[in-house]
Amino acid sequence: MIGRKAEGALSGACTVVVGCQWGDEGKGKVVDVLAKDAELIARYQGGANAGHTVHVGDRQVVLHQVPSGALHPGKRCLLGNGVVVDLGQLFDELDELDARGIDTSGRIGLSARAHVVFPYHKALDAATEEAAHRKIGTTGKGIGPAYEAKTARRGVRVADLLDPRRGAEVVERGLEWARRRLALLGADPALAGEAEQAIRVADRLPGLVADVGAEIADALAGGRRVLLEGAQGTALDVDHGSYPFVTSSNTTAGAAAVGVAIGPTAIDSVIGVVKAYTTRVGNGPLPTAFDPEMDERIRELGGEYGATTGRPRRCGWFDAPVAAYAARVNGLTGIAVTKLDVLDTLAEVRIATGYRLGGETGVAFPATDWELEGVEPVYETLPGWRSATTGARRLRDLPRQARSYLERIEELVGTPIAMVSVGTRRSQVITEL
Ligand code: IMP
Repeated sequence: MIGRKAEGALSGACTVVVGCQWGDEGKGKVVDVLAKDAELIARYQGGANAGHTVHVGDRQVVLHQVPSGALHPGKRCLLGNGVVVDLGQLFDELDELDARGIDTSGRIGLSARAHVVFPYHKALDAATEEAAHRKIGTTGKGIGPAYEAKTARRGVRVADLLDPRRGAEVVERGLEWARRRLALLGADPALAGEAEQAIRVADRLPGLVADVGAEIADALAGGRRVLLEGAQGTALDVDHGSYPFVTSSNTTAGAAAVGVAIGPTAIDSVIGVVKAYTTRVGNGPLPTAFDPEMDERIRELGGEYGATTGRPRRCGWFDAPVAAYAARVNGLTGIAVTKLDVLDTLAEVRIATGYRLGGETGVAFPATDWELEGVEPVYETLPGWRSATTGARRLRDLPRQARSYLERIEELVGTPIAMVSVGTRRSQVITEL
């Protein structure tokens, strides 16, 4: 039965919220719902490629760099060492929140070890895509080049910028490298920009720098709850996703501990977020893609346009092999199913229960993009519910067919459902299961 074994999954001391598809699962909404009972909310990876859309009252707020928890007054929000931070974007978002009457002063903390994304990383992102034989379809936010610099040990960290002289030196080295790389890629080296442009906001940093791991450890020791907010999704993880059509960080729950400087034993709950169907933005295989007519219909119903780039998302049926794989890789203790209401008007709903590849059935989420391109989903068809779920606040308010759909998802993913979201508003959620 739905939710029975998920008891407690939403009330962990230290909970990771992780995407279990190709991103855009609605993690922002889930974090927003859970944030009211947490003291600290921390992001552990990714950067401004993320787009967390949260609706508060009549207002829609899209955050790219600031954790979604920032919308809750009084909550402290941290960006861990695993994040690559676009400081211009961060300060713009903080200013916008303040302008909307959401006071963020003293509530944001940034790890000195986090790497900084500069305009030259964005120029490199664009030039690399332009020159690539197989284009990834990145968000163009400089994420890949910033993580590449980190791994190649030529990145610039927040700590470097705290000392203006040292900051100017390391940024100039980064710029010089970027100019050479741009020239090699056949792009204009001047696109790298200038040092002043790169470090224009560094003077706002000192008040923000925090020992993220220590703050989290203190909160947990004091019996206060912590949320670790993932960006993107499991199928976009650089190790576990549909490589090479992935982002450049580990998005999965294992990365949460590393990305905020705590040990894995501190985490006691992992909520995997899945949309009631599947979407993907950017290039790469999508096994359960709809036919063009359904694709258009669900895109419009679900507002499936990238929150960061505005690109239309490709849409498809619920892909259980992806979600079951994500359940294992992330060690899920519960799942949150979002956007159930988007399916309200369908006469029938389908679920891919497995993959077939080259005559073989029961194929798991494969390691290569060419195998994933070749898999044939095995579908099961269930009756639709053809009535609005948007007003449901308890499981028993849902139509019987919608409950059966959720039960089947739960069974196939092998993880109890802990939350169901039935609309964009904060209140449109079922946590009483
Ligand atoms: P990058 O992260 O900008 O390098 O983009 C790499 C891939 O990840 C592209 O397919 C992007 O569309 C995808 N991607 C990155 N961030 C998100 C996100 O927050 N939601 C969905 N897809 C994303």
